[in-house]
Amino acid sequence: MDRSRRKMDHIQFALETREEESSIWDDISFAPNSLPNISYGNCNLAASLPPLQLSSPLLINAMTGGAPAVTAINQKLAVIARERGLAMAVGSQMAALRDPAVRESYQVVRRENPKGMVFANLGAEATVEQAVQAVEMIEANGLQIHLNVMQELLMPEGDRDFRGYLDNIRRIKEHVGVPVIVKEVGFGMSAESMEKLADAGITLLDVGGRGGTNFAKVENRRHHTPMFMFEDWGFTTPESLLESAELQSRGITFIASGGIRHGLDAVKAIALGASAVGMAGSFLRLVQTVSIEECLATVDLWHHQIRVAMTALGAASINELQQVTVMITGRTAERARLRGIAPEKYARKRLGKRDS
Ligand SMILES: Cc1cc2nc3c(=O)[nH]c(=O)nc-3n(C[C@H](O)[C@H](O)[C@H](O)COP(=O)(O)O)c2cc1C
Repeated sequence: MDRSRRKMDHIQFALETREEESSIWDDISFAPNSLPNISYGNCNLAASLPPLQLSSPLLINAMTGGAPAVTAINQKLAVIARERGLAMAVGSQMAALRDPAVRESYQVVRRENPKGMVFANLGAEATVEQAVQAVEMIEANGLQIHLNVMQELLMPEGDRDFRGYLDNIRRIKEHVGVPVIVKEVGFGMSAESMEKLADAGITLLDVGGRGGTNFAKVENRRHHTPMFMFEDWGFTTPESLLESAELQSRGITFIASGGIRHGLDAVKAIALGASAVGMAGSFLRLVQTVSIEECLATVDLWHHQIRVAMTALGAASINELQQVTVMITGRTAERARLRGIAPEKYARKRLGKRDS
């Protein structure tokens, strides 16, 4: 199957199988703050993925490119990114490295948003040369390298050999000349994997957890012998963020993605330690169903929801939001304990600390 047909399948099946009603964020809640001592108007949404500075913690995560039919999707996403100052990643550029005829479907993103924060995207099998070309193709400010082992294994035409990825990632990071973000695509990341990547010099990680777009379901739709038993594979996004706690204190910066539906999900992810929040499926649904004006109004609403929660929690900045008390219950707490992570520590984060 050619890559452009595959991309069209992914778009259709991602929308059809999205776990919209998923409850991964229901296990996360906040302690109320009756004396927040801040003003809504002073909440600052600026986010930092060192060395990159973002004006919003929301980013449009990697999805598409690689077929003339998806140029319009990337164009619309790029307009939203430009108009609301969001960082945006393109989908895997391997298609355009193999077939220059489809470059336009990626380059439209830079043309629409010449000054914006744009990320290139490739799989961990890419060579250093391909990584450099992908960055040059869209004058990217950063490069995302995706890890998607389970998706590849369930994909009829997917990769089967995953040897050497870590060394390859290290080489790319050393030579590509822009910040590198390593990301999962919806199966989540364990502390063990994060630590290997940190030891390889990666400082920006997108946990890409389970709970939103489910590529096991997507690939099963494309397979004549679907393997449904793999559809619950991996760590959810909150679980993955809990896994990341130790590395946060070692200076690794995290992006949360996977199942973010609105501003409050984003706030919960940040309170669990994320510095920014990626949304893919939610943006795909928007651009495929409503006008640009309605898309922009929805982004405004998400930003408003973030500010409402920040104000109610007494957090005037993303950094302060990372410090608020979080209640972790249910399956998420149970699984955290199994991994030696104490949910009680999150529930008592601010006890004894004085607000200035
Ligand atoms: C249609 C579609 C295509 C995607 N293609 C890519 C890709 O090429 N590269 C990548 O790193 N992630 C890709 N993703 C994964 C997203 O970037 C994200 O990690 C994942 O969808 C989980 O986030 P969500 O629940 O907000 O959708 C794709 C997602 C969708 C919905």
